[in-house]
Amino acid sequence: MKKTGRIISILLGAGIIIFLLIQLIPYGRNHTNPPVTGEPVWDVPHTRELAKRACFDCHSNETVYPWYSNVAPISWLVWHDISEGRGYLNFSEWEAGSKRAQRAYARAAEEVSSGRMPPLAYLLQHPEARLTEAEKQELLNGFRESLK
Ligand code: HEC
Repeated sequence: MKKTGRIISILLGAGIIIFLLIQLIPYGRNHTNPPVTGEPVWDVPHTRELAKRACFDCHSNETVYPWYSNVAPISWLVWHDISEGRGYLNFSEWEAGSKRAQRAYARAAEEVSSGRMPPLAYLLQHPEARLTEAEKQELLNGFRESLK
């Protein structure tokens, strides 16, 4: 019994030390948003509001970082989503008519109507990003008018 207690203390202590040490890893630490260099010409402000609510945290340079994005290892997952998301589609570095914009436009409607975006794990943390069916339709119409 005594021995088990000691092993548990050692494991717990090691866990805490590892948790503290991984906080020193710089990956995902820099939360400075890059400058906005171009945005789509939104058809109506409401389209932008919907996109901001549901997409901007991962697909723009206006990311709002929640407190837990400062705590490893969650910070790594958050940063992975943001850097990958921006790589596919960035509403803040929008170049109308570019190849990248054309591809993003073609995929954005699909991602929203299939319900793949915004990702479920994100919605659990951000219930305000959930879109009603009517809002989804508005966003899809807005994308068609603003992104093509
Ligand atoms: C939590 C972060 C997050 C949010 C919020 C989010 N996305 Fe994404 N998105 C990603 C990541 C990560 C990828 C790349 C990996 C993947 O496809 O799952 C991606 C990929 C995409 C792609 C490219 C898909 C492909 O395979 O070409 C499109 C288009 C897209 N998202 C649109 C949207 C739209 C539109 C919204 C808002 C309605 C949105 N996303 C919300 C993280 C996010």
